[in-house]
Amino acid sequence: MINSVMNISNARKAFGGNEVLKDISLEVKRGEVVAIIGPSGGGKSTLLRCATLLETLDGGSLLFGDLAVATDAGSGAVYAKGDVPRQARSRFGLVFQNYNLFPHYTVMKNITDAPIRVLKRPREQAEARAHELIAQMGLVGNENKVPCELSGGQQQRVSIARALVLDPEILFFDEPTSALDPELTAEVLRVIKDLAAQNMTMVIVTHAMQFARDVADRVVFMDGGRIVEEGPAEQVIDHPREQRTREFLSRIEG
Ligand SMILES: Nc1ncnc2c1ncn2[C@@H]1O[C@H](COP(=O)(O)OP(=O)(O)OP(=O)(O)O)[C@@H](O)[C@H]1O
Ligand SMILES: [Mg+2]
Repeated sequence: MINSVMNISNARKAFGGNEVLKDISLEVKRGEVVAIIGPSGGGKSTLLRCATLLETLDGGSLLFGDLAVATDAGSGAVYAKGDVPRQARSRFGLVFQNYNLFPHYTVMKNITDAPIRVLKRPREQAEARAHELIAQMGLVGNENKVPCELSGGQQQRVSIARALVLDPEILFFDEPTSALDPELTAEVLRVIKDLAAQNMTMVIVTHAMQFARDVADRVVFMDGGRIVEEGPAEQVIDHPREQRTREFLSRIEG
């Protein structure tokens, strides 16, 4: 069994003349939780968007396990065709800051729509799994509500359930709590910590340093399109080696 769930190597990405990713390499192992921190504009979201095929790399390679999505023999990223992108998408889930739920669908339908309509799973099977996830996310009793009847924290937990129902090998989160107030943030972070305890492989972009310290096996500090420093949380957050990391941490904590 391949232990690497996702491997992005020498990733480069520019928008016009703006080089946003400059030679980024990041490998995530099965069961690992990686937190990505860093200042605004550093390229964190772009890295996640490239990893999840929402953007294409200019250069570098991208693998999910043994599945090569993009390779680079030296003249730029070349994307595999045919069924490869679909297979890759079936291996990861993505949770954004703003939930992106369907406003006119119930909680149950938001969670079961993709497994039923896209994966053609039987409705009973999809709903049985959805009930388990609704319980795990602390949402029992909300099955027939629509998103506007829920708090932001509840909506975010629905979006996590919606990602999990597709049985991803890895979950990517882009600032999952930045739109929430502290109380609702705590509920969402608790759910993510539970997933970590169940060995879910995750990459989490976050500004919540205490959370990153608690949940992450590895913290990656990105600035200016590069990984400036990475290592265990105790090292990167508590005893950063690089001046830029120290400046960032003192700014957000101070
Ligand atoms: N679709 C796009 N078109 C043009 N420029 C973009 C696009 N997406 C991102 N950028 C630019 O890329 C740079 C990195 O943006 P990105 O969103 O990846 O940063 P970030 O680290 O996620 O920041 P934040 O903490 O504010 O979310 C920024 O200069 C941004 O303006
Ligand atoms: Mg971002």
